[in-house]
Amino acid sequence: MDFNLTEEQIMIRDAARDFAQNELLPGVIERDEHQKFPAEQIKKMGELGFLGMMVDPKYGGSGLDTVSYVLAMEEISKIDASASVVMSVNNSLVCWGLEKYGTEEQKQKYLVPLAKGEIIGAFCLSEPEAGSDATSQRTTAIDKGDHYLVNGTKNWITNGGTASVYLVIAQTDVAKGHKGINALIIEKGMPGFEVGPKENKLGIRGSDTHSLMFTDVKVPKENRIGEDGFGFKFAMKTLAGGRIGIASQALGIASGAYELALQYSKERKAFGKAINEHQAIAFKLADMATTIEAARHLCMKAAWDKDNQLNYDMSGAMAKLYAAESAMWITTEAVQIHGGYGYVKEYHVERLMRDAKITQIYEGTSEIQKIVISRGVINS
Ligand code: CAA
Repeated sequence: MDFNLTEEQIMIRDAARDFAQNELLPGVIERDEHQKFPAEQIKKMGELGFLGMMVDPKYGGSGLDTVSYVLAMEEISKIDASASVVMSVNNSLVCWGLEKYGTEEQKQKYLVPLAKGEIIGAFCLSEPEAGSDATSQRTTAIDKGDHYLVNGTKNWITNGGTASVYLVIAQTDVAKGHKGINALIIEKGMPGFEVGPKENKLGIRGSDTHSLMFTDVKVPKENRIGEDGFGFKFAMKTLAGGRIGIASQALGIASGAYELALQYSKERKAFGKAINEHQAIAFKLADMATTIEAARHLCMKAAWDKDNQLNYDMSGAMAKLYAAESAMWITTEAVQIHGGYGYVKEYHVERLMRDAKITQIYEGTSEIQKIVISRGVINS
């Protein structure tokens, strides 16, 4: 067992750390307050190769491994989870799905600009009545010979307003259940495709979340990903990797809050000494550090499984479950350690606490991760 990072992995982690400190930290509080999408910062992330990290360089990507991706996601998420969710969706859900299952034409047309970060993508599975129960798709994609006619609504779509390319999951044949679902590439600007109002969220407020409406959108057959009826499996396989991205986002939110709390505990004095000299605080820091280390190992294990072509459904779900639950707990403790200062915006930890909550919800709630893990355990 080798816990050492390669020189390249260390370089990627340090580059992400520098980028987060220099480019994302300035203005992060204002972007959160005003729900401002970090457009300039995302453009720079694209130029640095953070939006297509694992894509083959022949399709415009950085050709890196999943371990490097986890390292970069943690560093970006320590500072700005609104930027890291864009990174996670673009890398794990959109680029990965297209590279793995797209045709050569789809890759040239869509994957190349997505991997270079020239445009960004969105993954559209959730619906008003199909969140956790993803097989119950109401959006329809009716086969009309050379095209599909798409009708329906998608909800809570990350990058909903800013994306140019949308991977949309829709039901073609209800009688076939999940085997009648397709994944289609829909471009912004296709007639009948409308972006709804932006959601006013508790956390990750800089990210751009919308509902989407499709009314008789004509989508050419060549925009279907995989064989007819492959859409649900496409979504499940893609989400399995996406969960490694969100697990590392949760890890970053947790470690960002922990580092702030540790620093504060050295500076803040109470009852005549630094607060971390009081065991009540020292023990909290010990528990937080241990939990973060465990979450990091789970993230790395899932990434390693993926890099070694092993099944990562269960390890990714375990990483996501544990890191998300840990992030919620650790950010709450970080606010507690900061006392009254933790409850105001300048100290960052209240934002990290609000951001942590979404990691227990999107890309499958914690309860969904337990379904995936328990099935894996029982069937092993
Ligand atoms: N890989 C391949 N195939 C898979 C699979 C996987 N990981 N998981 C399931 N499947 C297949 C099954 O084998 C089955 O196929 P067969 O009938 O041919 O055997 C088919 O898919 C249906 O599977 P299940 O019977 O297990 O389906 P289910 O209805 O019991 O639900 C579930 C499974 C795990 C609960 C699933 O519905 C799920 O993951 N739900 C959560 C959805 C989710 O994560 N949504 C997040 C939206 S995206 C997002 O949040 C992005 C963002 O904004 C950041």
